[in-house]
Amino acid sequence: MDSIRIKGGQALKGKIHISGAKNAALPLLAASLLTDEALTLSNVPHLADIVTMSNLLGQLGVGISLNGHAPGGHTGRVVELKAATLTDVVAPYELVRKMRASILVLGPLLARAGEAKVSLPGGCAIGTRPVDLHIAALQKLGADITLDNGYIHARAPRGLRGAEIIFPMVTVTGTENIMMAATLAAGETTIVNAAREPEVVDLAHCLVAMGARIEGIGSDRMVIAGSAKLHGAAHNVVPDRIEAGTFAMAAAITDGDLELIGAKMDHLNSVATILAAAGIDMTETADGLRARRANGALRGVDVMTEPYPGFPTDLQAQMMALMCVADGASMITETIFENRFMHVPELKRMGANITVHNASALVRGVPMLTGAPVMATDLRASVSLALAGLAARGETMLNRIYHLDRGYERLEEKLAACGAHIERVKEAA
Ligand code: EPZ
Repeated sequence: MDSIRIKGGQALKGKIHISGAKNAALPLLAASLLTDEALTLSNVPHLADIVTMSNLLGQLGVGISLNGHAPGGHTGRVVELKAATLTDVVAPYELVRKMRASILVLGPLLARAGEAKVSLPGGCAIGTRPVDLHIAALQKLGADITLDNGYIHARAPRGLRGAEIIFPMVTVTGTENIMMAATLAAGETTIVNAAREPEVVDLAHCLVAMGARIEGIGSDRMVIAGSAKLHGAAHNVVPDRIEAGTFAMAAAITDGDLELIGAKMDHLNSVATILAAAGIDMTETADGLRARRANGALRGVDVMTEPYPGFPTDLQAQMMALMCVADGASMITETIFENRFMHVPELKRMGANITVHNASALVRGVPMLTGAPVMATDLRASVSLALAGLAARGETMLNRIYHLDRGYERLEEKLAACGAHIERVKEAA
C-alpha cells in the first residue's frame, strides 16, 4: 500500500483547481440507468469511487466511454453512459462492499427494470450506516422488498406508484434514490424532509434535463411528477465543496494563501461563517474563492455538524486538525455519524490535545504539532491527518492512503504545486 510523506512548515500559496464533486458524480452516474439514451457527464473527477461505480454500471449493461477531459489538466473527465438495454439487475457484494454508494443503483434500476438485487452495504468505519430509510421509502412507492443472503431484493413488476415519502431524518443518498425512482413512477411523489445538499440539487437539475418534472429543488420538500420515460442529456458536475473546504483549511493551517478555482461560495456559507470566526478570510474571486488567515492568528471556535446548509460532517475532521493549532479551545460535535472521531487518536500522536466525550470532542489548541507516522482510517480522517502534517514540525508518514484516493484527485500533486513538501511513496512491490 502506498504512503504519503509530508515535511511540514511550508505556507501554501497559489491556485488549486477544484474537481467535480464525488458525491454528485456518483448519483449522476447511476441516473444513466433511467433512460435508454445517452447521458453525457462532464467535469467528472478521476477517483477510485468513480471507477468502482463505472464498473458496477458496466456489469449491469451500461455502455460507458471516457471522452477526454476538460481543458486545463487531468481533471474534468467527460463520460458518456448509455443504458440501451440492461443485461443484469444485480449489484454484487464484492463491488458494494468496496463502496457503499453502490446503493444508489437500487432506485433507478428498480424503476427502469422493475427489479433490483443490491447487496446490503456492510457497516463502515464511521458508523453502521443502515439503509432502512431507502427500503421503507421504496416500499411506499409500491416495491416488494425482501432481504435475504445479505441482499436487498426489490421487485416492482407493474412499475412504481407515486406516494408521499416522509423521511424521519435527513438522508442524502436516501433522497437521491427516491428522487430517481420517482421520475419513472406512475403519478406524483412528494418527498418531505428531503436532503438539500448541493449534490442533491445537481442530481435534480440533471434529472430535469433528462425530462423529469421536479418542483421544490433545493428545498426540504420536493414534488416529482413521474414520466413514462426519460431521455438523454448532457450535464456538468458541480464543483466539490468538500474538496474546496479542505483546501481552504490547508491554507489556514499553514498560514498560506490559496485561490480555489471553480469553488462556489454559496455552497460553503456555513463553513465560511465558522472559518471567519476562527480568523480565516474566505472571499470570492472572479474564478472561485480565496482563503487565508485574516491577521495571522487562529482562534478556537465551536462547531456542530448538521445537514446542509449547516456545517458538513465531511469537513469535521479537517476542521478538528485546524483547531488543534488554534489559540484557545474548540468544542466539535458530530451529530450525523456515531463514530466519526477516528482521526482523534492519530492527531493526538502528533501532539494534539483532544478529549472526546460521546459525540463531542474538546480540542485545546497547542503551539505546534510534531510529525509522526499515522494511519488513515476513512476518507476524511485521512485528509485531516494530511492537513496536520502540513503544519507539523518534522516528517509525517500517512499510511493506508487508498482512503484518500477515493475522494481526492491527485492530492499530493495539487498541494506540492502550492509549495508543500509532500510526495507519494510507492510501496515496494
Ligand atoms: C452521504 O452519505 C455522503 N455520501 C457522505 O459522504 C456524507 O457524509 C453523508 O451523506 C452526510 O452528508 C455520498 O453522498 C455518496 P446519509 P449517506 O444517508 O447518504 C442515517 C464522504 O466522505 N441513515 O445522509 O450514506 C445514517 O446512518 C461520504 O464523501 C439511517 O439511519 O448519508 C447517518 O447517521 C462519507 N438510515 C445519517 O442518517 C438510512 O436508511 C445521515 O446519513 C440512511 C441513513
